[in-house]
Amino acid sequence: MASVSLEKVQKNYGTLNVLEAVDLEIADGEFVVLVGPSGCGKSTLLRMIAGLEEISAGEIRIGERVVNDVAPKDRDIAMVFQSYALYPHMDVAANMGFSLALRKTDKQAIDTRVGGAADRLGLNKLLARLPRQLSGGQRQRVAMGRAIVRDPKVFLFDEPLSNLDAKLRVHMRTEIKALHQQLKTTSVYVTHDQTEAMTMADRIVVMHDGVVQQVGAPLELYDHPSNTFVAGFIGSPGMNFLPATIKRSADFVAAILADGQKLPVLASLPVSEGDKVTVGLRPEHLHVAGDGDMSAEVEVVEPLGLSTQFYARLAGQQICVFVMGRVAVKPGDTVRLSATASDLHLFDPETGQRIN
Ligand SMILES: Nc1ncnc2c1ncn2[C@@H]1O[C@H](COP(=O)(O)OP(=O)(O)OP(=O)(O)O)[C@@H](O)[C@H]1O
Ligand SMILES: [Mg+2]
Repeated sequence: MASVSLEKVQKNYGTLNVLEAVDLEIADGEFVVLVGPSGCGKSTLLRMIAGLEEISAGEIRIGERVVNDVAPKDRDIAMVFQSYALYPHMDVAANMGFSLALRKTDKQAIDTRVGGAADRLGLNKLLARLPRQLSGGQRQRVAMGRAIVRDPKVFLFDEPLSNLDAKLRVHMRTEIKALHQQLKTTSVYVTHDQTEAMTMADRIVVMHDGVVQQVGAPLELYDHPSNTFVAGFIGSPGMNFLPATIKRSADFVAAILADGQKLPVLASLPVSEGDKVTVGLRPEHLHVAGDGDMSAEVEVVEPLGLSTQFYARLAGQQICVFVMGRVAVKPGDTVRLSATASDLHLFDPETGQRIN
């Protein structure tokens, strides 16, 4: 096992800069998830760690060793991709043992390693099958098995679950997490799915347009997003954003919405009378309450059984409200809503940065 550290790692294609000076320290045994929308540079960064993509500037270390000029096969990493890339004419056992066979590992050692990985992944009964005789989830497991038998210092995953249906994806992410808890191999996992990131990661790296926006534990990002991008990206349903103006007097601070309705603001926040702000409020932090200070018009109701979410118009904008259990509202209703000052996030409307 090993740590991975990136120092000012950059990627340009000609004059096009797709990754801007990324600094990241991944601890030995940590599971780090790179997340962000399509095109933000996740795969590029992962492929640079793997050695499949040249680094335009900066330094990558795996353990103590600088690997900038080390060939992928000598980096002691194993990669699992979205496309499983199994050899179609080889059975499961041969697919899993292939990299060891290439390295002239003796037959008995290969069998032991493959058997061990198959045990962990529940593939014992499938070792003699060809890839085309497997389901998608089983193929994905073989791809993971192939990585495990190499006993690498670092696992690199690039959207390994994207080809699976929703239910299997949820199942497999639990399996990968459980596997990591057993093996404790340093892992870097790329996904565009914030739920996958939240559920699997020790730490999440949120990226946007080739720039790291924030690095932190899942709930750190959820509770203290450093800007509106992270605030909007992490959490589902997403955070509501409302433009507001600060009203500050000796005994209270409030954010006044476009139509004059107001939200309480913590007095400790560095905002002054007249400041323009963006208020961020998570759907579960808007409470339906008979004596709520705000009123909103219900537009769409989504009953999910365990919970209910509904969309309503507040100060001219559509907002989402999340309620555990059931709530008796229907389109056209006017509901009273309340929120607590400590649940409000304030952002600078120009820079998008959090106001702390
Ligand atoms: N060979 C190339 N030449 C020029 N630009 C490239 C090249 N390869 C990738 N890019 C650009 O680099 C950026 C990052 O690509 P990358 O594949 O890392 O994104 P990603 O975050 O993995 O996206 P996705 O979620 O769609 O896989 C994209 O804007 C892409 O268009
Ligand atoms: Mg990608």
